[in-house]
This record gives sequence, C-alpha cells and structure tokens, in this order.
Amino acid sequence: MSAATPNPRIHKVALLGFGSVGSSVARVLCDSHPAALELTHVCNRNVARKQAAAASGCLPSSIRWTEDFEEVLASDADIVVEVIGGLAPAEDWVRRSLAGGKSVVTANKQLIARRGDVLIPLAHELGRHLLFGAAVAGGIPVISGLQQGLAGDELFKIHGILNGTCNFILSHIEQGASFAESLAEAQRLGYAEHDPTDDVDGYDAAAKLAILARVGLRSAVKFDEIACRSIRPIQAFDFEYAREMGCTIRQISRAERLGDALLAGVQPALVPLSSPLAQLEGGQNMVMATGRYGGDTVFAGHGAGGNPTAVAILSDVLAIVANPVPAVPGAPPVLRPANANFTSRYAIRLIVDDQPGIIVEVASILARHGISIDAILQKPGFSKAELPFMITLEPCAHSLMETALAEINKLSFVTQPALSLPLLEV
Ligand SMILES: NC(=O)c1ccc[n+]([C@@H]2O[C@H](COP(=O)([O-])OP(=O)(O)OC[C@H]3O[C@@H](n4cnc5c(N)ncnc54)[C@H](OP(=O)(O)O)[C@@H]3O)[C@@H](O)[C@H]2O)c1
Repeated sequence: MSAATPNPRIHKVALLGFGSVGSSVARVLCDSHPAALELTHVCNRNVARKQAAAASGCLPSSIRWTEDFEEVLASDADIVVEVIGGLAPAEDWVRRSLAGGKSVVTANKQLIARRGDVLIPLAHELGRHLLFGAAVAGGIPVISGLQQGLAGDELFKIHGILNGTCNFILSHIEQGASFAESLAEAQRLGYAEHDPTDDVDGYDAAAKLAILARVGLRSAVKFDEIACRSIRPIQAFDFEYAREMGCTIRQISRAERLGDALLAGVQPALVPLSSPLAQLEGGQNMVMATGRYGGDTVFAGHGAGGNPTAVAILSDVLAIVANPVPAVPGAPPVLRPANANFTSRYAIRLIVDDQPGIIVEVASILARHGISIDAILQKPGFSKAELPFMITLEPCAHSLMETALAEINKLSFVTQPALSLPLLEV
C-alpha cells in the first residue's frame, strides 16, 4: 500500500502596490494557479478604486483588500511582494516585513540600488529572503543568471542596454528625427515619463548597473558613484558618422573590474553593427556578462512591462517556496571605489564655425595630452557655420581625453560642446 501524498504547504502571498506590475502579479498568479501559492492580501492607498478595477478579473473573492500595512504585517502571509516603488514607505515596509518573519520579493531598483547594502545583510541576519530579480531588466532572468547560472565563473565585466526608453529614443533619432521629436514620440507612446531625466540622463540605468555590479562583480558600488552621461546631445548626423565607422549609437551601461578598482559608467557609445547590442529593438534590454572561464553570456528580452515583470516576481516567489530557508550568504561584496576612467578608442564629435587651421589647433591640443588621432571624418552637405565632423582616436584614458576636450571647447570656432563617444569592442 502506498503512503498518501501529503498536501503541499500553501504559501501565502501579500501584495504591496496594485499598479501596473502589482495588478499583473495578481492576474498572472491567479491565472496560472501555482499549486503552492495563495494571494491573501492586496495593500494600496485608496484601495476601493483598485478593488473596483479588479472586480471584472479572475481574482478570488477571498483576497483581503486593505490600505493598512499593519494588517499585512500582522497577517500570516509568508511572502510580501513590494511593488509600490520609491524609497518611502517601501523601505520601512520591507524592513518591517523582514523583521516580522516574512520573506520579501521586490521589483524596486531604487530601493535595492540605494539601500541594498543594508537591506540584503539584514535579510540574511534575520534568516529571510530578500529577492529582487525583477528590479533589473524586468522579465529577463539576469539576476538569477548571474547569481546561480554563472556562479562557477569569475565574472569581470558586465555591460548592456538597461534602459528601453533610451533605446527607443536613439533608434528614432537614427531614423532622422531630432532628440526632442523622439522624446515626444516616446512620451506619446507611453515609453517615457513626463519628466524623462532618470531615463535620458542615465540615472535609471545607473541604479540597475549598481545592482548588477553587486550581484555579478561583488562590488558594493553605490548608484550615485556611477558616472552618467546624457543621450540629449545625440543628433541624427551622429548616426551618419557612426555608420561610416560600421557602428550605431546606444546608451551603454558598463562595469568592469580592473585590479582593485571598479570602472563603471552609463553613456552613449558607438556599438559595432555586428554586435548583438546593435540589433536590440525598441524597449528591449540586453545584458552581456563576461567571465574568466566562460567568456560572454548574453541575456536579452523584455526589460519592462507588467506581465514580464510579474513573471520575474513570481519566479522569485517560487524560488522561495522551493527553498524557504536562505542559504548562508557568501562573502559580502568588496568595497571598491568606482570611476569611469575606461581606456578605449573614442570618437569625438565637434561642431565648428568652419575656418582654416581648425584641424591643426585641435590636433595640437590632443598631441599635447599624448592622444593620437586615428582618422578624421567629414561628411558633405552641412552649413559651414555649424559644421559637424568626427575625429577617431587611438585608445586613451577617458580622463585624459576629457581634459583635452575641456581645452578644445574653449577654442573660438567651437560652437557646441564637443561630444565624446567610446567605441565598444563587442
Ligand atoms: N512598470 C514596469 O515595467 C516595471 C519594470 C520593472 C520594475 N518595476 C518596478 O516595480 C515597481 C512598481 O512599478 P509600477 O510600474 O507598477 O508602478 P505603479 O503603476 O505606479 O504602481 C505603484 C502602486 O503602488 C501604489 N502606491 C504608491 N505609493 C503608495 C503608498 N505610499 N501607499 C500605498 N500604495 C502606494 C500606487 O497607488 P496609486 O495608484 O494611488 O498611485 C500604485 O497602485 C517600481 O519599483 C518599479 O520601478 C516596474
């Protein structure tokens, strides 16, 4: 006679936040019916509105809708999913959930990038999970890929496209539109926020890069230590010059261990057309991790959106169900100073009021800083008063090139600040 199979333990899930991601988490959870999970609470301000909006869906009537986090805290929910975003009250609610014996899954990149150095060790001390696979690149399992899939390698470089909004805007400029037109189109289609600063100036990608560097490179770099450069100065003709070099332009986030230092930066860069990064469409994300033994591994897919992000969240929830007691943590991240002083090939784009002797003056400044010119590209058809051209350089340190650019920007014929673009070797 075979023994009766014991009923699997049901893990109760409470949802903090019922916006784009939260409502998708609830829907996917209830649609896909994972046997071991039950959604017991939804907590949101003005919750009646949310409950009414969800009424026509598949959500069970047993769910307790509440505006009161204390009710969630006092409940027997095992796992709290935080998808309200921001630091307050998310940080407090995550801390108190952990202290109250619950594991936490969050999609909140700001929270992990800014407070991960405190919250992750706190979860370990308390013997609870704090998982954040959805915080970077939405539905792409890059965090678990780095933490588990590539755990056997010694990763030294992570780079990729982490912001779909910038990818969309740059692809649009590539078709001949201006930055302002491309941003307006991204806003019209709902890809860009009313205030696009975090996306276009690189801060959103920097928060994600800080998390990837923590997980993959064991670096405790803070996101505000990562140098960010905006995509705002990129113009359609920059893509024409990029094409001459067999490249396109993308917002690239990269972090690299170099001896005891971490180099990390987010900036527009020249990407060879042969690179998988150049093929990325619209709002997709791609991360390439490079290891000492395994070489390059590429993760790609939908970096945002309610359903892909909900999948990442539920995957974390199911990982907790499979392994309710977290493993003893490995060594904590090593603290390293971050800078963006990458040595690479660069292209500098100048816009000048054309006159004789320009090249000589620019070349002599570069030479004084020990920087060698590789080639000069000038396409016909531009006004002489606002003439763009590009100079490609032999490999040099970013800091050296910036010092030279500061001098070049003071030349009387330079009409707009020079733009520097690293040339990726991928
Ligand atoms: N959307 C994506 O594609 C995506 C992808 C990856 C990660 N994420 C992350 O997922 C999180 C949620 O994003 P989302 O797009 O779902 O945002 P959202 O649509 O704005 O949803 C946030 C929800 O939390 C509620 N909320 C905010 N502050 C609250 C408070 N103090 N008390 C109670 N409820 C509060 C909001 O209520 P109201 O309706 O009243 O504002 C809203 O229902 C963020 O951390 C985001 O970075 C999002």
